[in-house]
Amino acid sequence: MEKREELYSGKAKSVYSTDNPDYMIMFFRNDTSAFDGKKVEQLERKGMVNNKFNAFIMSKLEEAGIPTHFEKLISDQECVVKKLDMMPIECVVRNYAAGSICRRLGVEEGLELNPPTFEFFLKNDELGDPMVNEHHIESFGWAEKAHIEKAKELTFKVNAVLKQMFDDAGLLLVDHKLEFGLFKGEVVLGDEFSPDGCRLWDKETREKLDKDRFRQGLGGVVEGYEEVGRRLGINFD
Ligand code: C5P
Repeated sequence: MEKREELYSGKAKSVYSTDNPDYMIMFFRNDTSAFDGKKVEQLERKGMVNNKFNAFIMSKLEEAGIPTHFEKLISDQECVVKKLDMMPIECVVRNYAAGSICRRLGVEEGLELNPPTFEFFLKNDELGDPMVNEHHIESFGWAEKAHIEKAKELTFKVNAVLKQMFDDAGLLLVDHKLEFGLFKGEVVLGDEFSPDGCRLWDKETREKLDKDRFRQGLGGVVEGYEEVGRRLGINFD
């Protein structure tokens, strides 16, 4: 597959067209950003670690019957993905309280949420990705009702699969963010799943092994991601 021009460059990944209009190449850069791009750093190895982490998780999700855009790894920092028509919405599921829900609702970090709770956010940097509901999404035409309902259903399915997988590896999946798009009319999981977009804590010590290490200046960011990968059996070499 031939790599052509850059179509889009986000905060941590760039996307390129290919000679096949149905497929793109996703390049994981070492850039790491937080607070709507206000804190940005280059972290060595992060692009490679997240690319391989994402490939591992997407393959597990496919095995569990969840349609994803992931096709194959083609280099340390690149993979081939299906070209989706993305919905401008983030789907967040939370098994434990952390981050913005603690600030918004005044709840203590680490509180177990039973059942897990769910939130939609609009992808809009200028507005700081505000929380929205199904009615907003439908009324403003950001996505069709059936598609957003499917995205929510798939997010809970992903959560069930991954919560168990991380639990088996001695980790708590605290929360995670997913993005979906349409491929030939079907709702498909897009973007990435890596410690950049989820919270993972050691089950015993509750040590943070995700992007909160970067947000909170704890150091050892990529080392934390690699520790999670090591426990899952991912080979980063
Ligand atoms: O910030 P908040 O607590 O709402 O984040 C919930 C989850 O979604 C976290 O795992 C965070 O890393 C992820 N997230 C993300 N991209 C965003 C916002 C949140 O990956 N733009």
